[in-house]
Amino acid sequence: MVIPLLIQHKRDGHALRPEDWRTLIGEYTAGRVPDYQMAALLMAVVWRGLTTDELAALTDAMIASGDRLSFDGSTLRVADKHSTGGVGDKVSLLLAPMVASCGVAVPMMSGRGLGHTGGTLDKLEAIPGFRTNLSIREAKAQIERIGCALIGQTPEIAPADKRLYALRDVTGTVESIPLISASIMSKKLAEGLTGLVLDVKTGSGAFLPEPARAIELARTMIALGEARGCPTVALLTAMDRPLGRACGNALEVEEAIEGLRDGGPPDLMEVTYALGVEMLLLVGAAADPKDARERLQAAVTSGRALETFGRIIEAQGGNPAVIDDPAVLPQAGAVEVYRAQRSGVVATVEPRRIGQAIVELGGGRRSLEDQIDAAVGFVITVKPGDEVREGEPIASIFARDSDGIVSGTAALDEAIGVRERGHLTPLISHRITSTGVESLAEAR
Ligand code: URA
Repeated sequence: MVIPLLIQHKRDGHALRPEDWRTLIGEYTAGRVPDYQMAALLMAVVWRGLTTDELAALTDAMIASGDRLSFDGSTLRVADKHSTGGVGDKVSLLLAPMVASCGVAVPMMSGRGLGHTGGTLDKLEAIPGFRTNLSIREAKAQIERIGCALIGQTPEIAPADKRLYALRDVTGTVESIPLISASIMSKKLAEGLTGLVLDVKTGSGAFLPEPARAIELARTMIALGEARGCPTVALLTAMDRPLGRACGNALEVEEAIEGLRDGGPPDLMEVTYALGVEMLLLVGAAADPKDARERLQAAVTSGRALETFGRIIEAQGGNPAVIDDPAVLPQAGAVEVYRAQRSGVVATVEPRRIGQAIVELGGGRRSLEDQIDAAVGFVITVKPGDEVREGEPIASIFARDSDGIVSGTAALDEAIGVRERGHLTPLISHRITSTGVESLAEAR
């Protein structure tokens, strides 16, 4: 295999052969292809795209680069959810124990914060002692015992993605539908799933803001899943404002626990239930959407979902006292109330600015080695469309010190726009399956 020729071929808009992708990914994972050649090829893919056969070969090669979680021979129904990333998106923390409490096994494999978006692993690690780096063997044993494990990408699962992802992150090659699809689906398809639900974000805070591109991403991932025997459904959800009120790792854990107590913000609960309904339906754990919703609601109101979350925390070394006492979580050194600058209707709560501000406060990474401060962030109690009066408290800033309060205030000044009139995009706009795209905007 002459790699410069493959790069030229792709650069000039031709398809590589499936066997080329297989060999290339195998050799790259083994450390026999240098990053600079792979980076050049990735950039050619960003510009030229991949054919269906190339995408299939790339995804299969990435799956084959590692091991798989396997539930073969067991009667377990296994489902997972993946979000394409957002701000304030703590859905996984609620959804995994809720679905597990309905008798479905959930091997939820999540990522860390990326750019302005938060990551489930960073949120979980805000819980003192919580360990996300379980091996495949440990995760499987925990799933069989409790019904759920909340883990990171182990070195054993899709190691090719781990290397490729780190390379894409620093070479401007993240925003590519085939590369994102292969990356997400190679990890998910290695989990031994009976069904997968995708939460594809759209709007200014999403990696692919335009709905048409988000729908194309969803359809690409669904086709990959279905062709590999994993029924896959996607919901397109709004990321032109943060989800819920809390943005920041420890604050989001606290809000997730409130949600499991049936006291979460309506938008967070709505998205969580909608995704949960799809998960139960996909694996045949509910008769219809109404039945699925009732089962999930009963898991919350009975306290079973919260209890399951407590068991997961304990099993993964975390302090389960957090369930009853949020003071167990890291606490910010400085807290200040933020007030509306003028009267009117909230037009924007810009998630990208909020996410960047959390990174500035120390709650996200600028480089891989950065230690994050889990306590910092915002609780924003207004949404686009809400009416506010000048001086009314609309947010709280959680920072390390008074300098953080100053930069957090400046970020909210930019992110929260109050005008005469606001525009509200639907929270859940589309449902996408292998058979088509259904608009939900009118239906809800
Ligand atoms: N999440 C992933 O796992 N991979 C991508 O490429 C983008 C988001």
